[in-house]
Amino acid sequence: MTFLSVQNISKSYPGVKALSDVSFSVEKGAVHGLMGENGAGKSTLIRVLSGDQNADGGAIYIDGVKQDYTSVRDAFDAGVIVIHQELQLVPELTVAENLWLGRYPSRAGVVDTKQLVASVSSRLEEIGIDLDPNAKVSSLSLGARQMVEIAKAVMMEARVIALDEPTSSLSSRESEILFDLIARLKAKGTVILYVSHRLEEIFHLCDSLTLLRDGRLAAHHPKIADVSREQIIAEMVGRELGNIWRWRGRTLGPTRLEVSGIYGSTLPQPSGFSVRQGEILGFFGLIGAGRSEMMRLIYGADKRHGGKVTIDGVDVLPDNPRASINAGLVLCPEDRKHDGIIQGRSIEENIAISSRRHISPFGLLQLRKEAALADRFIDRLKVRTPSRRQDIVNLSGGNQQKVILGRWLSEQGVKVLIVDEPTRGVDVGAKSEICDILYELAEGGMAIVVVSSELPEVMGISDRIIVMCEGRLAGEFTRDAFQESEILTLALPDKNAAKNP
Ligand SMILES: Nc1ncnc2c1ncn2[C@@H]1O[C@H](COP(=O)(O)OP(=O)(O)OP(=O)(O)O)[C@@H](O)[C@H]1O
Ligand SMILES: [Mg+2]
Repeated sequence: MTFLSVQNISKSYPGVKALSDVSFSVEKGAVHGLMGENGAGKSTLIRVLSGDQNADGGAIYIDGVKQDYTSVRDAFDAGVIVIHQELQLVPELTVAENLWLGRYPSRAGVVDTKQLVASVSSRLEEIGIDLDPNAKVSSLSLGARQMVEIAKAVMMEARVIALDEPTSSLSSRESEILFDLIARLKAKGTVILYVSHRLEEIFHLCDSLTLLRDGRLAAHHPKIADVSREQIIAEMVGRELGNIWRWRGRTLGPTRLEVSGIYGSTLPQPSGFSVRQGEILGFFGLIGAGRSEMMRLIYGADKRHGGKVTIDGVDVLPDNPRASINAGLVLCPEDRKHDGIIQGRSIEENIAISSRRHISPFGLLQLRKEAALADRFIDRLKVRTPSRRQDIVNLSGGNQQKVILGRWLSEQGVKVLIVDEPTRGVDVGAKSEICDILYELAEGGMAIVVVSSELPEVMGISDRIIVMCEGRLAGEFTRDAFQESEILTLALPDKNAAKNP
């Protein structure tokens, strides 16, 4: 029985037709996947559904009733709750306050904090989410914030819940809790719309699937069991993709980056490793394993208490990112949204900003070079935009990620490139293209370190893998010895504890 029906929804922004005539329907109690390349219109569809954006045309029916809401408040009252790609919590309030926003229990007009905390606490326990109701949201990790949003949707007893890339900042444990919650909501008859770029998740969770391409419906699969992974990719990208990673071998030169006995308060255990010219070294571990901390120490973003970093045998000054950059070491951070995007500036400026030092500081030449650089990346990574002059905030989430990555990949004079989660939030086609760029850079002699929590990706692109677990290096594999189960085993904390008590 159809519960949610989306009919002929269209939505345009200046210069962009984000959605054209999109229709599909979802059964009661079904988890419905929504996939498509970056900029395909997934978030726009979700925003229309949430009342945050008004469609130019079309209609939404819930349980046979046409919805005419025009605001988030109305959609909320109609039982539609959305968890956006960008989280919407109030950071200065506590978990409990965020969960009861606008609906505080009060006594004689005064908010009853005790009662608020107690009721939130018991609800969280019921739902199975482990969060301190008194914690300020600003003090929580991205993953924990995501869990607050999810708890909120569950507590509101929504009829339709839409989740826009919910697992992109969750640890695998948190993801499991989420999947568990989804199963329970499903049993209650809630319709779940689930946006993700991760095919494994889609197959694991979803009953049915809609694919968008360039704002149009590319395919609708009422039963996900009837489709293959390859078919979905082809329908999404518009062509067969084959192997996503397309790894190719390289001749490696002498040691380029050497890290020895490095430690700091964020990573107390001294560790070291080296990377050769032309080598791509993968750093695998679960979220929280200490990979990003390690990279920040090497780069000088966090304070180093001891140890040494050399590039081509020359020491790199500690605690000084500027010195690292000058020595040819760059770090493309994990949270590119936060650390990278310059709002109110064009795509072109966002790409060029770090290359600027290397391009002539004056005149036309610089402008032309910047434009050419921007165009090359927009084209290669298929950034969906009407022009390179577009303000970066108007791009879809994944396209913003691509632009920021483009900035680091186009940097001149780099000897060692560290990229933290390079393909998070980007679609499969762009993933493949990013890998290709990394191979080219390595072929030019760069030493590359790729940090990732996605094992297929690390195995797909690396020449060698180092596994991290609980702040220490747990093991190392060369490409001919890559074994999924062994790598995973080393990354799991309890198994390690059993091995080295
Ligand atoms: N406020 C806006 N102004 C102009 N264009 C916009 C705006 N919001 C979205 N767009 C454009 O609409 C299109 C669809 O964007 P949307 O965010 O829905 O993509 P998406 O499928 O969610 O992509 P991603 O996987 O990257 O999150 C994109 O081309 C985007 O640039
Ligand atoms: Mg999106």
